[in-house]
Amino acid sequence: MQRRDFLTIAAAGVAAASFNVPTIGWANTNEIYKLRAGEANANLIGDSTISENCWLYNASCPGPLLRRRKGEMLNVAVTNDLSTPTTVHWHGIRNVNEMDGVADLTQPPIEPGEQFLYEVPLTQSGTYWYHAHTMGWEQVARGLYGPLIIDDDDDPAVDHDFILMIDDWRLTQDGQIDDASFGSLHDWSHAGRFGNWLTVNGTSDPLFSAKPGARLRLRLINAANARLFKIKIGGAVATLIAEDGAVCLPEQTDVVDLSPGQRTDLIVDMDHDSIILQEISTSEPYPAGHIIADPILGKAEISKKPINLAKPPPIADLSKAKVIDVHMQGGAMGNLTEAIFNGDNLPLNTLAREHKKLWAFNGIVGDYTQTLADIQLGQLVSLDVFNDTAWPHAMHLHGHHFWVLVDDPTIDAPSGKRDTWLMPARSRARLVFVADNPGLWLFHCHMLEHAASGMGMVLAVS
Ligand code: C2O
Ligand code: CU
Repeated sequence: MQRRDFLTIAAAGVAAASFNVPTIGWANTNEIYKLRAGEANANLIGDSTISENCWLYNASCPGPLLRRRKGEMLNVAVTNDLSTPTTVHWHGIRNVNEMDGVADLTQPPIEPGEQFLYEVPLTQSGTYWYHAHTMGWEQVARGLYGPLIIDDDDDPAVDHDFILMIDDWRLTQDGQIDDASFGSLHDWSHAGRFGNWLTVNGTSDPLFSAKPGARLRLRLINAANARLFKIKIGGAVATLIAEDGAVCLPEQTDVVDLSPGQRTDLIVDMDHDSIILQEISTSEPYPAGHIIADPILGKAEISKKPINLAKPPPIADLSKAKVIDVHMQGGAMGNLTEAIFNGDNLPLNTLAREHKKLWAFNGIVGDYTQTLADIQLGQLVSLDVFNDTAWPHAMHLHGHHFWVLVDDPTIDAPSGKRDTWLMPARSRARLVFVADNPGLWLFHCHMLEHAASGMGMVLAVS
């Protein structure tokens, strides 16, 4: 049976709701945000259907907006009201290691009923996000994520700053999260868990209102477990200004590719009355929000000035780099026949059947206690990654941003640094970074099913 990529139930006829990401609000740097991870209902479909088996922060989908300025501390007390352990990871943040939120690597898991205080120094600005990092393949899929925005004096002036947190959910016909399919070996060995219902900020096709002629900043965040989104911006010219929170060379575009974990910041001027956002990765364009000029909001204040941005840092001299080869294998239709798991060399079908392990780095099934390399603090490192599998993988490094070098002329390398890079099947890339942040940092695929089944290891920087 052919499965449609996105369900079309209720796609037509859902009245668009005006939407704002809930804000906890500004505060002095010592204020402590409170996040409570717990079971909650959400109105994902937008009609009267209630999805009752979500797990959310503060019963909000997405979780509350955490917003700070560069140079401040982000203090968040996380309480675990779930019946299973959890942790929170601050994706893309150059964190201190013990606040990175990887259970059993950087902290003990937060047990049910317990609390953990995250104290995160913010040395960067831009668009980030936070998400559960314990059994993420289930916890993120049930909704444990939210936006984290860090403002900076140098941010380009805009009339409106809109966050679009994009996710796909696998819902049953009655609109509940499809519990039965969690852990599906098919998903884990193929592209990961795809959903059949698209939301932006927890709702379908949200409406944003803007002053006529306004200059907008759009912050796109892919919170999906595995899906690669392609977002088309119809009715305006967008200028790309940042990727994964980091500045890039400005570039005009009308389609944005986002792999799981990635963010893209755009500046868009409202030349017309509306901007239509669509998800176009499948054969059917899918509504992903629209922005309407509304004169009631008053006059746009930011004239169409040129956008002045800092330049991304030039790539370091590679001749001094320590090269770490990462040969990624495994999954369905792959060439991995056996791999080392807990010291034993096992055939792939045994790994799959008995241990649910499907992927390997350099012939070893990865996990969050496995060291890929020891690196001296301050060393320039080139992760030379070969995706020798039949699937794309969104490779994410904790605690650092990296330059991306690719030889393949069909792949566009980014002009700035990133923290997550999509590697098409059979592609290679060099991910280059200065290991100037001490600690145990994960390098893993952000297709969360892949991460859980072998595609992740630790870089130990000291
Ligand atoms: Cu956003 Cu280790 O992940
Ligand atoms: Cu992957």
